[in-house]
Amino acid sequence: MDLLNVFSTQWMLGIGLIFLLSTITALTFNKRQRDAVLKRLRVSRRRASGASTPPRSFSPEKKNSEGPADTASPDYADVFCPSRRYVLPKLAESASASNKEILIGTEPCKEFLRKDALPTTRSYDLENDHPKYTPTGFSTEEIKAMGDFPAYDILSGVPLPQPYANFDPTKAKPRPYRPFRWAYHQTMSLSKMEPEWWLEVENTYVSRVNERKELFERYGKMVLDYLPGSELVCKELMEICLQFYCARYPKHFSLSTDKQTFHNGLLNEDTDIKSMHPLHVLLNNVPEDFAIVLRNENDGMYYFRAGVVCSSLGWNVSTKIGMQLKEIHKPIPDYKEKMSFSMDRYFSKMPTNAPIQRGSWGLEVGSPLFMPPGDPHEKLRDMQQENLTIEDCNLRVDWQTLRRLPLSAGIVFNFKALFTPVQEFRDEPYIPALLLKILKDGKKSLMEYKNTWHVEHACIPELEKYAEEQVKKGLVVPSSPDEESWTVATLQQSPYFPGWEEKWHRQQGF
Ligand SMILES: *[C@@H]1O[C@H](CO)[C@@H](O)[C@H](O)[C@H]1NC(C)=O
Ligand SMILES: *[C@@H]1O[C@H](CO)[C@@H](O)[C@H](O)[C@H]1NC(C)=O
Repeated sequence: MDLLNVFSTQWMLGIGLIFLLSTITALTFNKRQRDAVLKRLRVSRRRASGASTPPRSFSPEKKNSEGPADTASPDYADVFCPSRRYVLPKLAESASASNKEILIGTEPCKEFLRKDALPTTRSYDLENDHPKYTPTGFSTEEIKAMGDFPAYDILSGVPLPQPYANFDPTKAKPRPYRPFRWAYHQTMSLSKMEPEWWLEVENTYVSRVNERKELFERYGKMVLDYLPGSELVCKELMEICLQFYCARYPKHFSLSTDKQTFHNGLLNEDTDIKSMHPLHVLLNNVPEDFAIVLRNENDGMYYFRAGVVCSSLGWNVSTKIGMQLKEIHKPIPDYKEKMSFSMDRYFSKMPTNAPIQRGSWGLEVGSPLFMPPGDPHEKLRDMQQENLTIEDCNLRVDWQTLRRLPLSAGIVFNFKALFTPVQEFRDEPYIPALLLKILKDGKKSLMEYKNTWHVEHACIPELEKYAEEQVKKGLVVPSSPDEESWTVATLQQSPYFPGWEEKWHRQQGF
């Protein structure tokens, strides 16, 4: 693959993820609402055309160099992600004698991977059925021999996090993500996932866990569901999350020596791991969202088979479960023609040791986490409330990671919604000017789905005040000596801002 293709694939994927994870907000609003918003945009806002922002369906070269953008999707039945079998001898080192023998078996040929694929569309009896293979090349026999909580760092190639020294769970705050970019195409929105920060415990931990459990009580399968064939991936995800927590926060989380009980010191609870579905272990202990897609053994395509998602706006697990990537994205104009090909290809090949992360953002009134249809917050997006004040306005960042799990080869989206008062930007150099630029000159279609219109009348004047103040105070300086002001561009510190660490440590107190 040449460099241009790598670039366009990642660029496309970035857009794909935006759509998959946050745009759905805008898209699932019914047509009437959408039309209303569109009409309002046309009438009340005459914007600069935003010529420096490329259309979201950018990349004409791509079509030429990659070919079948307009034909039916290529055949993925024979396409597998990179095998992870070469780590087996390492795993075998610490296994019992009988398991060791199983773990140093021979590599199955691709034919086996296809013909004897572990089904992801129906349940599978790990104990009694004849061995099957997962797309990463492991047999069910080998997976059994690995036992519970195998070394996922070795299996995946993603290191375990270091223990977080001086961590205080009552004060911890998320890092101040400000994923604003200008111009949109200049920087890649994706970066390598930082293994230390895959999951984050913050001072809202206990209340978030409770809030999420309540959402499940109330909405059931709309926030947590799993389809037959997802047994292995759900167990694997639960184990890899708990393993992460124990390594990262060893003072607060631990696993019993028989690996059957998870001790949670923040909630003061012990969980008998085998007593409930793995996704419930996650719901009760890990306040983050997970959506899992699995490779279908017949067509090689990826389908949403299980998940726990409490922070979706305008969609829910029931709306999308069982769907293939391209069905999930169906309502999106141009997805099939322009993005489907890159997304499918990316998913089919993504290795386990190259997880990625990104942030998407929007502005909200209050801090709506889960928004079912008919929620009062939905109406708020349809109007510019006259009495709205800056105190009511929050930045919502959905911080997302995407990684492939090594045993089941399932791909997991992890995301968490973080809210920050817009007033925080006052002392964050360049952030007010950068956000203003996007709000005022951003491409219309982009801003529409970001749903920022409903708070702009309250935010723009305030941001203008902050931006001016920052120039006066010298927090913002011209881009070069012969320029009068700062030429707005994505910050070098993106997704943060200059001095963010100092502010973050000060606010946390550690
Ligand atoms: C969830 O999605 C389904 C299907 O789209 C919809 O009928 C239902 O009202 C939604 N419920 C919530 C609570 O979001
Ligand atoms: C703001 O105005 C709306 C009507 O536009 C009203 O429903 C709401 O209660 C008002 N809020 C405050 C804080 O006054």
